[in-house]
Amino acid sequence: AGEMPARGLHVVITAGPTREPLDPVRYLSNHSSGKMGFALAAAAAELGARVSLISGPVNLPTPAGVERTDVETARQMHEASRRLATECDLFIGCAAVADYRAATAAEHKIKKREGEEGLTLKLVKNPDIIADIARLRDSAGGRPLVVGFAAETRELEAYARDKLERKRLDMIVANDVSTAGLGFGADDNAALLLWRDGEGEGGASLPPQPKSELARAVIERALGCLTSRPVH
Ligand code: PMT
Repeated sequence: AGEMPARGLHVVITAGPTREPLDPVRYLSNHSSGKMGFALAAAAAELGARVSLISGPVNLPTPAGVERTDVETARQMHEASRRLATECDLFIGCAAVADYRAATAAEHKIKKREGEEGLTLKLVKNPDIIADIARLRDSAGGRPLVVGFAAETRELEAYARDKLERKRLDMIVANDVSTAGLGFGADDNAALLLWRDGEGEGGASLPPQPKSELARAVIERALGCLTSRPVH
């Protein structure tokens, strides 16, 4: 259908930050507001898709027609993603997942120690959610198209291409998060889209624009990849 090109498709999107507890009152996190991921969810729903949105702690209303699952930690986001992504057509990882969590979250509030100037926290790696979903494509049944984001402060294209390859993604949306007014927390964003089209590398530069418009362009490009790729 012309205006509903995503009708019949199930799209799973992660959004927002994750929050990794240090003790009952403190956590590690980042500045993701969820705006970009929620804009993607709204755009996919407007184009007719069934949308599952897995969100870290954010302050945003759920877009119309979107099924939302709220999580806090990377491990919870991982679990929800695995559950939903095995039956979807398109998985988009827009969440700013904390790469590390405390090796053990303290049971009680960590006390300030007299006479000690420093405090050393032991961190361990969180699972790489999107790389794990991308590996599903090798298993029978689960084969979503996998689109990642790359948030970089320098060497945007080189780092994004590295993530595209290393995480075995089909497409990556690279955004420079060092530009004022774009990226984390902002209403606007700009991106460089990189994908694998089978015959060499693609690429497209999307200038600064409202996240709602950028989201629409990303979803449309992903739908293009979905229809052009070989059926499994
Ligand atoms: O939420 P907003 O305020 O609107 O800001 C939007 C944004 C800047 C957060 C968004 O556009 C963005 O860039 N999201 C990805 C942020 C990020 O953490 O990028 P990364 O380069 O660290 O991760 C690369 C990819 O791997 C991402 O698809 C990420 O979701 C995924 N990842 C990373 C680590 C991890 N443990 N698991 C993952 O799935």
